[in-house]
Amino acid sequence: MSDVLNANTIIVDGKQRYYEPAPTNMNVEAFRQVVTSRRSVRKFTDKPIPKAVLDDCLDMAMLAPCSSGLQPWEFYVVRSKDKKAKLVKACMSQYAAKTAAELIVCVARTDRIGDYAQKVLHDWPTPNMPPLVKRYYQLIPYNYAPGPLNSFGMLKKAAVKVGGLVTPLPRGPYTSKDLDLWAAKSTALACENLVLAFRAHGFDTCMMEGYDEHRVRKLLKLPNGALPIMVIGAGERADDGVFFPQIRFDRKLFIHEV
Ligand SMILES: Cc1cc2nc3c(=O)[nH]c(=O)nc-3n(C[C@H](O)[C@H](O)[C@H](O)COP(=O)(O)O)c2cc1C
Repeated sequence: MSDVLNANTIIVDGKQRYYEPAPTNMNVEAFRQVVTSRRSVRKFTDKPIPKAVLDDCLDMAMLAPCSSGLQPWEFYVVRSKDKKAKLVKACMSQYAAKTAAELIVCVARTDRIGDYAQKVLHDWPTPNMPPLVKRYYQLIPYNYAPGPLNSFGMLKKAAVKVGGLVTPLPRGPYTSKDLDLWAAKSTALACENLVLAFRAHGFDTCMMEGYDEHRVRKLLKLPNGALPIMVIGAGERADDGVFFPQIRFDRKLFIHEV
């Protein structure tokens, strides 16, 4: 039994719940056009990206789903002439970096889990945080902490190995490497949102992992818990900005119905 109370409250089986029904006026062809017209662009014109467009794209990037809602990402829009020149060099002077109107370094953060779990507890958007959710966020800093030389993680791994014999349990993250992967997943999703948002605004991008991580870290003074995931070059596509037709293998290689 359900009964809509107002725009975002519904009563289900006597309990008040948040209510956000799926919008129905979606335009799949507009989405398809964005997805299919996205290409990795290696040569941009010198047209600047309006600040409002850049900000809108970054805002859409940060609407990407993220593990436990912890938003383990950061975007460094490198604007200073000096820093930009250094970043282009760190990107091995790739054409896509050299000609881009904007260069954005996308960074995954594993060192803010505790702070952001606190922030979720503090900023929770409804008056009563469900007790189980509250407990989950209170425990996150302990659950995710690998400890010195991954010692806590290894203890947790042993406990999960035993507990996992009787019930399904999440296997990790245990080590600091696991945490890197944990943060990289969500950050890469935000990167995809970012490039699609630029495309939807009529601009183009090139994701780049061909860079010298040491130099990028130094340039941005990144701490240990920060992991550069990719540099995104963005701008207006030059007419000859896409160098090759798109290659995608037969879908049968990748899609398995099991
Ligand atoms: C994580 C990642 C890293 C990439 N690094 C580079 C790069 O350093 N330089 C480059 O020119 N393209 C780079 N690319 C672009 C790929 O080469 C490109 O996506 C692929 O060839 C498919 O072409 P398409 O994006 O036009 O469909 C990268 C793409 C991804 C997803």
